Amino acid sequence: MSVLRQQTREQHEALESALNLLAPPLSRDRFLRVLSRFYGFHRVWEPAVAAHVELRAFMDARHRLPLLRRDLRALGLSEDAIDALPLCEDAASCVAETGEALGSLYVLEGSTLGGQIITRALSQEDWTPPQGLTSFNPYREETGRMWRDFRTFAEAQGRGRDAARIVAGARQTFVLLTGWLTT
Ligand code: HEM
Repeated sequence: MSVLRQQTREQHEALESALNLLAPPLSRDRFLRVLSRFYGFHRVWEPAVAAHVELRAFMDARHRLPLLRRDLRALGLSEDAIDALPLCEDAASCVAETGEALGSLYVLEGSTLGGQIITRALSQEDWTPPQGLTSFNPYREETGRMWRDFRTFAEAQGRGRDAARIVAGARQTFVLLTGWLTT
């Protein structure tokens, strides 16, 4: 886990500054756009991760698609409009091999940590739904425990695997998201 953190620091910084989510104004339109893009990513990515038998049970307990749908509905999108959102087909290519998929899982589980900061900032805005944007904060007060559980799972799953592929999966995911979320 510490190798992953070190080896993807630059990519995290690039994504964080490209997204620039904390720069005012924290407008509804900007967040609707980012959530729509996340939705198109997760629709391809979640089933592709779950295709790896070693990761399936873990993924099944952490799906974010229903939360993304709920947030998009709360921001005014119809079911049909959500179904018509563009899909990020390249999301499957970051997770083709199990080690790569593990690295990619690290990126999306880690996003719940930054999500805490974003959620706090959004709570000041008057356009956010009463329950907040749940997909940025999927685990709420359980975030710390869920992250520790992920670390334990990832350390066990990573043992005996090629570390370079795990790191490659994480880096590719950061790079893909940097492009996909900002276009
Ligand atoms: C404006 C957007 C973001 C901010 C401000 C932000 C901020 C942070 C912060 C402060 C942490 C460290 C938390 C800690 O050490 O306790 C963190 C961790 C992390 N974030 Fe972000 N983040 C943002 C976006 C994202 C996105 C979009 C992703 C991926 C989709 C992501 C992936 C990660 C990962 C993987 C970690 C874990 C690093 C580690 O400890 O190994 N972040 N983020």
